Amino acid sequence: MEIIFKQNEIKEVASKILEKFLMHSTPSALVVALSGDLGAGKTTLTKEMSKIFEIKEDIISPTFVIMKKYDIHNKNFPWKNLIHIDAYRLEKDHELLRLGFEELSKDKDNLIIIEWPELVKGCLDSDTFSINLSHIDEETRKIEFCYNTRRDFLAACRDVPVGKFENLRFSS
Ligand SMILES: Nc1ncnc2c1ncn2[C@@H]1O[C@H](COP(=O)(O)OP(=O)(O)O)[C@@H](O)[C@H]1O
Ligand SMILES: [Mg+2]
Repeated sequence: MEIIFKQNEIKEVASKILEKFLMHSTPSALVVALSGDLGAGKTTLTKEMSKIFEIKEDIISPTFVIMKKYDIHNKNFPWKNLIHIDAYRLEKDHELLRLGFEELSKDKDNLIIIEWPELVKGCLDSDTFSINLSHIDEETRKIEFCYNTRRDFLAACRDVPVGKFENLRFSS
């Protein structure tokens, strides 16, 4: 599934993404791989989600600190902490482990959003929720949800209006 949006629609997009996060229940932390080129809007989108979570601090790009932790105040969500990671400056997957990633990813109270997830692939398991952002033009971006499991795919299909696939034919 994909959504094409302009900057002034980002609030709706952020809440749509959070709905999807809620459908993706995991026994441990929810780990989100947020990929996309430089300037695609990964940090901007994370900031928008932080407003919905009623996070009080300003979300800053964690490029230099690698990892930042924020308290989620909105009790409508099952997580207590947002952990925002920017893996851009990491050279090896194990550097993320040194920051305590393994323990953090076991804790159900954590929602972990990782920018540049392709640099720490070895730390991510099949339960990771993957999102990709790409440029369409200066003000427009495309967001794609990737399904790692059949369960995610079926959950996402609940959004598709009935009848959309009426004319779809499968070839054998
Ligand atoms: N539709 C849009 N969605 C998100 N950001 C947008 C959009 N249109 C323009 N922008 C701009 O693109 C830039 C994205 O920067 P940033 O979020 O830091 O990217 P990234 O973290 O992916 O490198 C911001 O300056 C933002 O204002
Ligand atoms: Mg960023």
